[in-house]
Amino acid sequence: MEVGIDGIEIWTGKLELDLPGTFASAKGEDPGKYTEGLGLYTSSLPDAYEDIVTMAANAAHRLLRRKNVQPADIGRIDVATESAFDNSKPVSTYVAGCLDQVFDGEFRHANKGERKFACVSGTQALDDAHNWIRARRNRARAALIIATDTALYARDDPGEATQGGGAVAMLVDEDPDLVSFGTPQGIGSVDETDFLKPNQQFPSVDGKRSMQVYLARMREALQDFARNGGNTHPENFTLVPFHTPFPGMVRKAAALGFRHCVRDTEVEEQLADEIGRQPRPEAFDQQETYFEAIKSYTEELRHTSTYQEWYERTVEPTLCISREVGNWYTGSVHVARAAGLQEALVANRNLAGTSLLVASYGSGAQAEIHAETVQPGWREEIRQLNIDEQLDSRYELSFEEYEAIHDVHNHDESTDMEPFTTPHGEFVFDGWGRMGEREYSYVE
Ligand code: HMG
Repeated sequence: MEVGIDGIEIWTGKLELDLPGTFASAKGEDPGKYTEGLGLYTSSLPDAYEDIVTMAANAAHRLLRRKNVQPADIGRIDVATESAFDNSKPVSTYVAGCLDQVFDGEFRHANKGERKFACVSGTQALDDAHNWIRARRNRARAALIIATDTALYARDDPGEATQGGGAVAMLVDEDPDLVSFGTPQGIGSVDETDFLKPNQQFPSVDGKRSMQVYLARMREALQDFARNGGNTHPENFTLVPFHTPFPGMVRKAAALGFRHCVRDTEVEEQLADEIGRQPRPEAFDQQETYFEAIKSYTEELRHTSTYQEWYERTVEPTLCISREVGNWYTGSVHVARAAGLQEALVANRNLAGTSLLVASYGSGAQAEIHAETVQPGWREEIRQLNIDEQLDSRYELSFEEYEAIHDVHNHDESTDMEPFTTPHGEFVFDGWGRMGEREYSYVE
């Protein structure tokens, strides 16, 4: 039995902030920090009537309608988020409440939950659905998994440069149309305090350390994946979607991953004439000298045509949406998968039957690596995505408008303002209920 992602929909926040233009100039920064350093061009931000529930419900609604799935066909709704506004009632209940407004049937029978582990929880929710179906507790029903976040940082925090907001809805089922999940899984997980939100809306971040922790946990997950029977040869994969807080982070992770994966393979042999063999720790008396040697080897590796061709083919295509939307936390790696497949469709690559290596990560910190097999129906599924049109129709904010909308979404501010865009055929935030709950309605 194959289990995997049968369908996917992406919903972006309706507003756009030009990073090298509007943001960098207001901050007195060089635009090159964004275009070359971080690899980011614009952020997606939610309008005044949008939040994690509306974006999740809108993505899910479009997905269920397009796949002709009725409430009776869904046995589980899990939302992965790190932007929840309620410590008890899960976001999935709000989402189901929205969907109840537009479907004839009900989601009464569907098990609902919320998954939390920073950005890796979207992948964990997929994993839960995978196991639930394999255990045959699904009674022939599919799981609706949604990763939704408003990735906002406090004003003037360095993380502000990497903000974003959007949702990815995925249908997990038997005989999937898009990708099936492989069994081997690699985990790298350690208690870390690099990025956290102890009962606060905006994260406390040690940005530079968070990047080191990301790389260390990814390496451990890769080692664990190989130990558990996963094939890590880089030529085994047509795409390698990473968790993408910003493309510059993935550039670093990809080079380290490639180096690790080609060690003791014919690729290392072929590269030996050009850049020598990889330094081995046992050849060094001091750890520091070994680290220096491995660092300069990696730098040389990055400049070889072998590496660059691999990167251009397997990683670069996965960054095409991220660089226009910023970090979507739980949704980010799923955006990367969709972007890679969309680029492959445009380039007329035939990916059916090939493998993806999916590398997820969440601060705090845990990396997870598994492989997926692209299914024969992938083209039809990816062709349905309308993310490019959504991106093109975003409202472009001035810096003053950006400041105002950041305040609107700041739970400590009581700013209210007219939205910049007009909703059509979608769920909107409608105000507050008598117990402090958020209320939603569907606008035709
Ligand atoms: P910063 O201090 O604003 O930026 O922090 P910087 O000065 O380090 O510049 C960024 C890059 O641009 C550097 O490249 C610069 O050299 C380069 P690097 O040295 O790293 O290769 N640069 C330029 N390049 C060309 N021309 C120029 C120029 N100027 C600079 N003129 C930082 C950046 C990412 C730390 C900050 O934005 C931050 O704190 N972000 C939030 C944390 C984060 O995203 N961490 C990533 C790993 S952790 C993760 O992914 C988990 C997360 O998604 C949360 C979760 O799991 O829930 C965040």
